[in-house]
Amino acid sequence: MSVNLKGRSFLTLMDLSPAEIRHLLDLSHDLKAKKRAGHCGEALKGKNIVLLFEKTSTRTRCAFEVAVHDEGGHVTFLDPGSSQMGKKESMEDTAKVLGRFFDGIEYRGFDQGVVECLAEHSGVPVYNGLTDVDHPTQIIADLMTMEEHLHKPLRHSKVVFVGDVRNNMCYAWMYGCAKMGIDFVGYGPRSLIEGADQQALDRAGAEARRSGCTLTLTEDPGALKGADVLYSDIWASMGEEDLIPERAKLLAPFRVDERMLADTGNPDVLFMHCLPSFHDGNTQLAAQWLEQGVDIREVTDQVFRGPHSVVFDQAENRMHAIKAILVATL
Ligand code: CP
Ligand code: NVA
Repeated sequence: MSVNLKGRSFLTLMDLSPAEIRHLLDLSHDLKAKKRAGHCGEALKGKNIVLLFEKTSTRTRCAFEVAVHDEGGHVTFLDPGSSQMGKKESMEDTAKVLGRFFDGIEYRGFDQGVVECLAEHSGVPVYNGLTDVDHPTQIIADLMTMEEHLHKPLRHSKVVFVGDVRNNMCYAWMYGCAKMGIDFVGYGPRSLIEGADQQALDRAGAEARRSGCTLTLTEDPGALKGADVLYSDIWASMGEEDLIPERAKLLAPFRVDERMLADTGNPDVLFMHCLPSFHDGNTQLAAQWLEQGVDIREVTDQVFRGPHSVVFDQAENRMHAIKAILVATL
């Protein structure tokens, strides 16, 4: 079956078919091999992409910039302080203006409704660089990383996401696993499970039934058994900083450590993380909270730096995956 994503937006993996996701993964591997061999193309020559960031970023911003430059295109970066967006001009009007200048729009912010509005009104492909409820470009990079390290079909794999099971990364994983037939467990405390968005669970659940995989949210550590991947994320996402002390207390039993890796029963289990991560005292936030007796580390330094960890491969793959998404859609 031939796949054509030209002109399409990339707002959530729920909008893509498994064959389209497979196509993006194949293209990501291919572009990575080409770059490693010293070859970049001109697939984005003459293309202008605008990067809108209402939240901070290291990987996503740099991945878009390098990917576009590698393929001969140009980027413009706008943060909330340097445009009229939202304050003096509605998102609808902003979308209509940007669509006249640019060939594609990347957006990172809070409300998923904003990427949908940009896609509806700009007339050009829009890329979700993270919202409060999704992070789809991260999942393409992560599936790619799994394929590099697991050497077995994705549909024979099991991913356990540990921690805040109602955050953007957990939903993005639910969608990615449901589409690709990967057994998925969200392992976290009952209060957060109860706070998970029912509509998101229903949509992912219906897709999981179609692809024949399981999708479970649980506080039972027995669900770790047989995991191929233990995936962690910070305990309070961007915009939730006020919740840090309460989350640190709630999620302390879910800090990923050597023992949790052992509880999977899989000696080759991968530790994955979207980054940024609190795993030592070498960040301002972790150090400030530690002084007040609050430990916000979601993973031990031993696991983060240990042999199971593939976190920096994931980070590199953000660039190859985002390049594939841009090349396929533009
Ligand atoms: N993983 C990720 O999206 O990283 P940034 O917040 O640095 O973009
Ligand atoms: N859940 C995190 C992901 C960062 C890539 C956040 O939204 O801050």
